[in-house]
Amino acid sequence: MLQDIERIVLTESQIADIVAGMGKQISSDYQGKDLLVVGVLNGAVFLTADLVRALTIPCQMDFIGVSSYGDTAVSGTLRMTKDLSVSPKGKHILLVEDVLDTGRTLLHLKQYLTEQGAESVKICTMLDKAEAHQVQITADYVGAAADNAFVVGYGLDYAQRYRNLPYIGVLRPAVYQK
Ligand code: IMP
Ligand code: MG
Repeated sequence: MLQDIERIVLTESQIADIVAGMGKQISSDYQGKDLLVVGVLNGAVFLTADLVRALTIPCQMDFIGVSSYGDTAVSGTLRMTKDLSVSPKGKHILLVEDVLDTGRTLLHLKQYLTEQGAESVKICTMLDKAEAHQVQITADYVGAAADNAFVVGYGLDYAQRYRNLPYIGVLRPAVYQK
């Protein structure tokens, strides 16, 4: 897979340091609160699993599924593929995402969870593509800022592949221009 990667954005050890730092901050911010960590499928499974293990406070963990159509382009059409198993009512929810791109997915989920009675909804994302935002949204915990390049690894995919790379890297455009 390495030959398909143009440059590394975050190494495995940089990711581990970032997750440890976010875990510490989140543990302190949510001390004494009823925390429900919600990973956005499928991209955030690795970050969610690593993050909850970096927390020193009790929490519940769940996943929610939304998908936008297409492989690299975000069409704006969202479809819920899995709803929460735990009730969001009265919970302090931390939404965990792999990348904040246009912001449509997280804005939609934030509104949905608020409507479902969540006490608060905050966002934690590994990457934030600030230049790509198309809606008014701010992540509360950001692993690293990213430019507009298409990245894969640590949960991020291209056509459901490359998610299992332990690092994050820019995919060679030749791979998706084939
Ligand atoms: P948003 O709704 O545009 O913020 O879309 C976020 C979703 O788009 C993420 O959960 C990813 O699935 C996908 N996405 C955006 N940028 C990338 C990327 O560079 N690589 C892989 N997936 C991406
Ligand atoms: Mg995703």
